[in-house]
Amino acid sequence: MMADGYSSSKKTDDICEDVCGQTTSGVMSMSRLRCMLQGMDLKTFILLFVIVPIGIVGIYFHGQKVTYFLRPLWQSPPKPFINIPHYYHPNVSMENLCKLHGWGIREYPRRVFDAVLFNNEVDMLTIRWKELYPYITQFVLLESNSTFTSLPKPHFFAINRDQFDFIESRLTYGTIGGRFRKGENPFVEEAYQRVALDHLLRIAGIQDDDLLIMSDVDEIPSRHTIDLLRWCDDIPPVLHLQLKNYLYSFEFLWDHRSWRASIHRYQMGKTRYAHFRRTDYLLSDAGWHCSFCFRQISEFVFKMKAYSHYDRVRFSHYLNPKRIQDIICKGADLYDMIPEEYTFREIIGKMGSIPHSYSAVHLPEYLLNNADKYKYLLPGNCRRESD
Ligand SMILES: *[C@@H]1O[C@H](CO)[C@@H](O)[C@H](O)[C@H]1NC(C)=O
Ligand SMILES: *[C@@H]1O[C@H](CO)[C@@H](O)[C@H](O)[C@H]1NC(C)=O
Repeated sequence: MMADGYSSSKKTDDICEDVCGQTTSGVMSMSRLRCMLQGMDLKTFILLFVIVPIGIVGIYFHGQKVTYFLRPLWQSPPKPFINIPHYYHPNVSMENLCKLHGWGIREYPRRVFDAVLFNNEVDMLTIRWKELYPYITQFVLLESNSTFTSLPKPHFFAINRDQFDFIESRLTYGTIGGRFRKGENPFVEEAYQRVALDHLLRIAGIQDDDLLIMSDVDEIPSRHTIDLLRWCDDIPPVLHLQLKNYLYSFEFLWDHRSWRASIHRYQMGKTRYAHFRRTDYLLSDAGWHCSFCFRQISEFVFKMKAYSHYDRVRFSHYLNPKRIQDIICKGADLYDMIPEEYTFREIIGKMGSIPHSYSAVHLPEYLLNNADKYKYLLPGNCRRESD
C-alpha cells in the first residue's frame, strides 16, 4: 500500500514537471499545487471529486444493501439439499405413487396436524385450510397479542373466527400473552411463541407417528402432497417441503426455492416446532409460498412493522402507501433488500423486478373456485384496496 501511494504521487510529480516545466522558487508551493491538479488526469479527478463522494453518500443511505450484497463473502452458502423427486397425477393410484417414491402403502392413512402461529393473514389462512381440509385431523392455531417485534396487536383470528366455521369441530385454538420486551431480538419472542405451540399440539392430542406440518400460514402445502405423505409408509421422519415462492400474489413467481416448511412424523418429547433447517431432505414441488400476499395496503404496513427482520424498515418513507402500491405492481422489492441465503450469482440474477407470470395453472383449488373474492391474488390485478 505505502509503496503504491508513494510511486503514484511520484508519478504525478513527474507529469507535473513535464507539463509545467520549471518553477521559480518564490511561488513554488502555489504553482506546485496547481501543477498537481493539472497533472491529474481527468479520470483521477472524476474519481476523487465525483465517485468517492457519491460512494460515501450511497453507502450511508444504502449501507444495508451493501452489507447484504457482500454477505456471501463471509457466509458460506448452506449445504445443498438432497432433492426428493415428487410424482403426482390425479389419475395415478396411491399405491403406484408411493411406489414411484420408493415407499410402500399403508393400510390406513396417518393422522395429520396442521399447526400455525397466526398474525393477521385471514385470506391466506382460509385458502390454506380449504386446501388442506380433507386430510387434516386437527387444525392448531396460536395467536399472541404481541407481534414478534413487541408491538401490541388484536387477536385477529378471534375477531374473524366466524369465517372459519368449516373447521370449527377440528380446531384447537390458543392465545398467548406477549412479553413486550423492548429492544429484544424479535427472534426471541418468535421462539417463545413456538414453544407455546408445542404445548398446544399436545393439548390437541398429537401422538407418535402422526404427521405434523410446521410452516407459516403463507406456506401452503398442496393437498395431494399431504395425501401422499399420510398414505406412504417409509417416508423420512423429517422432510422439508420445496414450495414455489410468490411475492405479493400468484402473478409474481420469484423462484422455486422456498424450503422452510417441513413435515414431521411426530415423536413425543423429541419433535419441537421450529422454522429452520431440520434435515437435508427436500420434497420437490410440494406447494406454494405467497409472501406479502395481502388485500389491503394497510396490511403491508402492518407486516413491515411486525416483521422479524425489523431492522430493514429503516426509513419511514418505506411505509408510504403510494410507494408500496407502485412497488407491488412492478414486482419490485419493498425493502430494497437482497434476500438472505443466496450466492453472488443468484443475487445478480435476482436484481431488479420479478417478471409477471400469467399462469394460474396448479394454484390452490379454493382460490380458483372463488376467484371473485380473491382477485388480487391472481394475475393482472395488482391494485390493492387502500382503506
Ligand atoms: C382417469 O381414469 C379414468 C378411468 O381409467 C378415465 O375414464 C379418465 O378419462 C381418466 N382421466 C384423465 C384426466 O386422464
Ligand atoms: C396481552 O395478553 C396478556 C395475557 O392475556 C395480558 O396480561 C396483557 O395485558 C395483554 N397485553 C396487551 C397489550 O394487550
